[in-house]
Amino acid sequence: MNRPFGLLAELTYRCPLSCAYCSNPVTLAEYGDELTTAEWCRVFEQAQELGVLQLHLSGGEPLLRRDVVELAATARELGMYSNLVTSALGLDRRRAERLRAAGLDHVQVSVQADEQEMSDRIAGTRSFDRKIEACRLVKELGWPLTLNVVLHRQNIHRVGDLLALAEELDADRIELANTQYYGWAWRNRDALLPSRAQLAEAEPVVSAARARLAGRMEVVYVLPDYYSRYPKPCMGGWAERQLTVAPNGDVLPCPAAQSLPLPRASVREDPLERIWTSSPLFESYRGTDWMPDPCRGCDRREIDFGGCRCQAFQLTGDAGRTDPVCHLSPDHHLVDEAVRVANGEPVELELVPRPHRAGAS
Ligand code: SF4
Ligand code: FES
Repeated sequence: MNRPFGLLAELTYRCPLSCAYCSNPVTLAEYGDELTTAEWCRVFEQAQELGVLQLHLSGGEPLLRRDVVELAATARELGMYSNLVTSALGLDRRRAERLRAAGLDHVQVSVQADEQEMSDRIAGTRSFDRKIEACRLVKELGWPLTLNVVLHRQNIHRVGDLLALAEELDADRIELANTQYYGWAWRNRDALLPSRAQLAEAEPVVSAARARLAGRMEVVYVLPDYYSRYPKPCMGGWAERQLTVAPNGDVLPCPAAQSLPLPRASVREDPLERIWTSSPLFESYRGTDWMPDPCRGCDRREIDFGGCRCQAFQLTGDAGRTDPVCHLSPDHHLVDEAVRVANGEPVELELVPRPHRAGAS
């Protein structure tokens, strides 16, 4: 059995932004009972013993946790490479300097667009100027900076401007990632899925920038898998390389797995090692034995692992089916239908913003 390489620590689902593409669960109310500092430190220790080398401090907005500096220091003591995945709201100079001193290795800042009006509208709050200020601070303090942009129907036409912004900020890396349809994004899918024409326009812009910026800035472009012939090898295979710990201590093979009707696993009840090696949740879709046709006899079964279990569940109601994104899947018509809608007559669909926290708006 492989050991996990990366841990996504979702410290909290509270967030000052309310992006409609958020992949956090729609059942936010279940995650209010957050792990304490001591519990998180124990999780990190157990993760390190299990072989984890990379720790992503994420959310929600991880900076809403008062103990984030202490958690970054623990990661450093354990020798793990730590990455802060943030909206940058709350990354003022004092906090940033403390995080730097604590040994945080990398900062990833999300922006919603390349200019204020659109970025703030998508984020649901005034935030763009503070994000840009924080990006400059990240560079000033000597951190590597990744700019992360979730692309969708309303901002994909700005990829050229987004790349120019990343260049101006001297980012080391930009991730232009088309929306993955989980959580709130799933609820808003039809308003977010870009058209084929939009993708065709964006692609050469990204390719040209990638060639021009080679050696200076890494440009990562994630296509929407609804337009692919084959599914993505989600998480590098179920329970093969990564694990996620949710704010309440639930342990998951991927950030969206809490939506699946599978037995729970929690760091409050079991050590990570036992969960990784033998919990029914992690064992459910590990390897290839669980696969149905057509994956079972397919040459690509150890390349894409049958695609994404969460996507299969969302689209078919059965997480054990072939990801309908695959053109060989008997359920592929479900993806075709969404793509047909995205390429039909444009209709203005209202986005449902995620709330800042359960019960709020
Ligand atoms: Fe991948 Fe299954 Fe499609 Fe083959 S049939 S390409 S293994 S999803
Ligand atoms: Fe859960 Fe792909 S997001 S398996």
